[in-house]
Amino acid sequence: MNILGIDVGGSGIKGALVNAETGEMVSERFRIPTPPSRKPQEMADVIAKIVDHFEYKGPVGCGFPTIVKKGVCISAGNLHKSWVGVNIDELLTKTTGNEFTVVNDADAAGYASMNYGIGKGKDGLVIMITIGTGLGSGAFFNGQLIPNFELGQIPYKKYEKIELWAAASAKEREDLSYERWGKRFNKFLKLVELIVSPDLIIVGGGTSKNWKEFSHKINIETDVVKAELMNHAGIIGAAISCLKEQHHGHLAQS
Ligand code: BGC
Repeated sequence: MNILGIDVGGSGIKGALVNAETGEMVSERFRIPTPPSRKPQEMADVIAKIVDHFEYKGPVGCGFPTIVKKGVCISAGNLHKSWVGVNIDELLTKTTGNEFTVVNDADAAGYASMNYGIGKGKDGLVIMITIGTGLGSGAFFNGQLIPNFELGQIPYKKYEKIELWAAASAKEREDLSYERWGKRFNKFLKLVELIVSPDLIIVGGGTSKNWKEFSHKINIETDVVKAELMNHAGIIGAAISCLKEQHHGHLAQS
């Protein structure tokens, strides 16, 4: 059975069909830029275009870049503030006509890595970090997701949250080299290490494909590895989430 997975980001909304048994992507990835307003209906309309592109009629799993509880957006993250309180499942179901299951994007990416990727079989505390417009985080203890970890929200220096200083969007905004940005990312990882003492950190999200450019700047005690599913993890995890989702707003252990 193929499921449509959609990974919603601050700069792009991506979709692909995923084989629900193997967790493999079985179509090309289709991407549409996120509308600059980042408002609910505008974004829902883009998501509907992605569903149409695949002429897909079944249930859709969707990774979303905010805290998500029981389908409801709890924080705005890097999206428009009018998202707070919106039942995302309902809005997307209404707009597309397909049944939607929505989970946090980093939780979805981590879920894919833990079940089909480098995190498979890894016990202890594993933290997935996604680098994109924001810094996403997914936490897994002995393979079980602890939903809605928000490590990118740690306040740092004059910044309300560290992701404003150390995510890919900061690199772009300030036109930083990988050397300089890598130093910031390492600082973020150091704080993560200090606060939650993980056993393993997996790095995914769009920027992880440039791993070679910045991995030499990573210098912490904890093992840090690249998510070999890279930014596809977000789509794969999203697709699978609609099968695994318990009705408590989080992904169940496989
Ligand atoms: C949000 C997180 C999200 C991350 C990555 C942050 O701004 O607070 O929920 O996972 O961005 O998209």
